[in-house]
Amino acid sequence: MNDNKIPVFAAPLQGVTDNVWRMAQHSVFGGVDAYYAPFMRVEHGEVRRKDLRDVQPERNPGITLIPQILACQPAHALMMVEALKEMGYHRIDINLGCPFPPIALHRKGSGMLAHPELVEELFNALAAVEGVDYSVKMRIGWDSNDQWRDILPLMDIIRPVHITVHPRTGKQQYKGELDIEQFEALLATTSWPVIYNGGLQTVEDIEQAVSRYPSIVAVMVGSGLAANPGMLAPDATPDDYRRFHDLLRDGYSEQLNGGEAQLVRHLQDIWQTFLPGTDRKLFKAIRKSRTLEQYQQAATAALAAVQNALCNKATE
Ligand SMILES: Cc1cc2nc3c(=O)[nH]c(=O)nc-3n(C[C@H](O)[C@H](O)[C@H](O)COP(=O)(O)O)c2cc1C
Repeated sequence: MNDNKIPVFAAPLQGVTDNVWRMAQHSVFGGVDAYYAPFMRVEHGEVRRKDLRDVQPERNPGITLIPQILACQPAHALMMVEALKEMGYHRIDINLGCPFPPIALHRKGSGMLAHPELVEELFNALAAVEGVDYSVKMRIGWDSNDQWRDILPLMDIIRPVHITVHPRTGKQQYKGELDIEQFEALLATTSWPVIYNGGLQTVEDIEQAVSRYPSIVAVMVGSGLAANPGMLAPDATPDDYRRFHDLLRDGYSEQLNGGEAQLVRHLQDIWQTFLPGTDRKLFKAIRKSRTLEQYQQAATAALAAVQNALCNKATE
């Protein structure tokens, strides 16, 4: 467990924090109070099977998992909520934050923040479902940093357990300054519990956020935890990083059924976010590997370098 009094939630990162990652992070490092699953969506009239598989309780044993839905059309949202209820979920997160243009330009995710009337329609449909509590994950706006002002009053419809706020507009995507002024204004305006999300890379960052915003009820960490899954485990050893990596390799080897080439590509992708301080040469060797054997050799060298870096840090 982390030493911070405030709960720490793992942010959803599509393509990264799936059930294999969650189980590896939980069993090797821990420190996370709840994991938010990457959003699920409806495609071709049905809930994506891959998304449903990812949140199956049997694939996520022993952790608190909150599934997330992304939809603009109430009918699609209801389809996902019903499927999740059938799986035994009674807490669902609503995505009003995704900035990815093909999604946001279709008035989904953060794109909905410019259309309070659509949010209202969605919330009204969701609120009518019995036996489900909702939370919302949002940005401060889509193309203007104060659009949250038109969205907040709508929260009364669904009475969220909490609202997670990433203080950027959707148009900013993941770049540019975090708009702390707007975050503070939002915090002062709402009486719903608020969770801060954005740019927390270390335990010290979490502590600073907690002292800067004493009224927040939790923090959510995304890229910091993907980069360093041991971020919340002060006693993590170099061997833990190797174990974490091996659990990912074995987990994906079991879940992906596209053969060795697909597995190698997937493992290479992991290094886009995992341990970004990895030496460029070692990283290049991982990218260039074509077989699992080559990959394993390159990954072993990179993980040994982590070992050295951690040992040096411990003796500083
Ligand atoms: C690759 C990637 C995938 C993401 N997928 C999701 C998602 O499925 N649902 C969601 O609400 N946010 C998603 N996010 C946003 C993160 O949850 C988080 O809000 C954002 O990265 C800011 O937090 P951080 O600075 O701690 O990373 C994603 C971000 C990235 C970079």
